[in-house]
Amino acid sequence: MGGMEFNKVFAAILVAGIIAMFAGFVAEQLASPHYLEEDAYPIEGVETVGGGEKKEKLAEPILAMIASADVARGQKLSKACAACHSFDKGGANGVGPNLYGVVGAVKQAKSGYAYSGVMNANGENNWTYAALNKFLWKPKAYAPGTKMNYVGIKKPEDRAAMVAWLNTLGSNKPAPSASQIAAEQAELALPEPVAEAVETAVETVKDVAADAKADITKSVVKSTDGIAVKTAE
Ligand code: HEC
Repeated sequence: MGGMEFNKVFAAILVAGIIAMFAGFVAEQLASPHYLEEDAYPIEGVETVGGGEKKEKLAEPILAMIASADVARGQKLSKACAACHSFDKGGANGVGPNLYGVVGAVKQAKSGYAYSGVMNANGENNWTYAALNKFLWKPKAYAPGTKMNYVGIKKPEDRAAMVAWLNTLGSNKPAPSASQIAAEQAELALPEPVAEAVETAVETVKDVAADAKADITKSVVKSTDGIAVKTAE
């Protein structure tokens, strides 16, 4: 093989190598999965994390627990609120408004307090047991933009205790009725068949995406082979 011939072969190998690298890069761009940070179609009440693991996005219902809730525990838990709220009749507003008689009261109604005005943005105008449950679970989720800088009470039995104790402060509303309990459960519980349907849909979309990725990779590899063979000839 003469020097000239050798150069040609060498050049062909070099070019083929460059094309293969470039094709690899293109294939990577085409086929590498870019996971969405959020679901393209968010589904209320369900959060899918990575492998379709579910996380409840709604407060657990508490109305059924209120009649027998631990009022003394509620009073103990109120220490977490006392930095911002007073609870006594006619007590001064602090960082937050005085909370005497808040159960069943119209929201944002304590005189002399400058509310953010967002706590009734969801259309609920009174602090019913059910509204307090959702607000105290995660204030910022229930009323985005609220001035109440408090993470919320995680355990449903603690929220029930808190609300039951608040009710003793001048409100003394009757325990929730059976129909109120049922309505709350209907609002907050995600029915099992819906949860299952969502999971199946997520799996199907993943399968389709994986198939498409395999197809694209195959066809890119094929066309790259074609180019490499032609160049080398
Ligand atoms: C860091 C301060 C802070 C803490 C702690 C806090 N709150 Fe509040 N709270 C506020 C503020 C501020 C508001 C007014 C919110 C607004 O206007 O958006 C508020 C509003 C409220 C309201 C609505 C009152 C009304 O008149 O409409 C309730 C009910 C309430 N808080 C209960 C609680 C309970 C119960 C706790 C303890 C578990 C608690 N808060 C802890 C600051 C706080």
